[in-house]
Amino acid sequence: NRKKTILDIQKMKESGEKITMLTSYDFPFARIMDDCAIDAILVGDSVGVVFGGHDNTLPVTVDEMIYHTRSVMRARPKAFVVADMPFLSYQTDLRDARLNAGRLVKEGGAEAVKLEGGAHIADTIRAIVDMDIPVVGHIGLTPQSIHRMGGYRVQGKKDEQAQRLLEDALAVQEAGACAVVLEGIPLKLAKRMTDELTIPTIGIGAGPHCDGQVLVIHDILGLCEKYSPKFVKRYADVKGAIADAVASYIAEVKKGEFPDEGHSFN
Ligand code: KIV
Ligand code: NA
Repeated sequence: NRKKTILDIQKMKESGEKITMLTSYDFPFARIMDDCAIDAILVGDSVGVVFGGHDNTLPVTVDEMIYHTRSVMRARPKAFVVADMPFLSYQTDLRDARLNAGRLVKEGGAEAVKLEGGAHIADTIRAIVDMDIPVVGHIGLTPQSIHRMGGYRVQGKKDEQAQRLLEDALAVQEAGACAVVLEGIPLKLAKRMTDELTIPTIGIGAGPHCDGQVLVIHDILGLCEKYSPKFVKRYADVKGAIADAVASYIAEVKKGEFPDEGHSFN
């Protein structure tokens, strides 16, 4: 189990082995999923919602992303680690984009950055790729565009919108992206993109035909029930496990059962 790089991720598209990716924002989660041999870890700006309690990802700052990326990197993951560029860290101009991407790599230790958008952000992707930082694209349902989309809605249902998304996917690849996240799009469109692109597609709510899959760890553990989109599968009830442990602790302390002699010093 050696260190995975972007080359391994790209080879997986050729060999047909599915790429597995999950979010992590901290050391313990990164350790656990890395020990399970996850292929890639995303330090997502979803941290603002599932960890920080915000309503959407817009308030997340570059400094917060650096803090979480550093925490993940301390697990020395074998997985390929991608950090999200948060809202307003790359939209203003190319200098800002380069500087903030560089900070995520230099101060955070990220091995690639991810940013949202298609054709309109191609120059930005190119600018960051030109400084030798791998860029992962992200198109379809892009959460930083929540106010334009009017909520988190599946994108590309209408033919005309689907055509534009296909053009976005090609533009992102043409700009030099090393992979692209496809979020919240119909499975047929995601299949078409996966077939037409030479870079790996990593889907979330984009059906089974993508080269890889990504989900938010808190969602698969049942730790965040703010909204549970259709594409999330819950693999464990960690919220229930935590609540049970906390309730037991409270009950034992109240009754004077904890700490017992075994948990005390003579
Ligand atoms: O921030 C995030 O977790 C993401 C994934 C959902 C793709 O961008
Ligand atoms: Na994100």
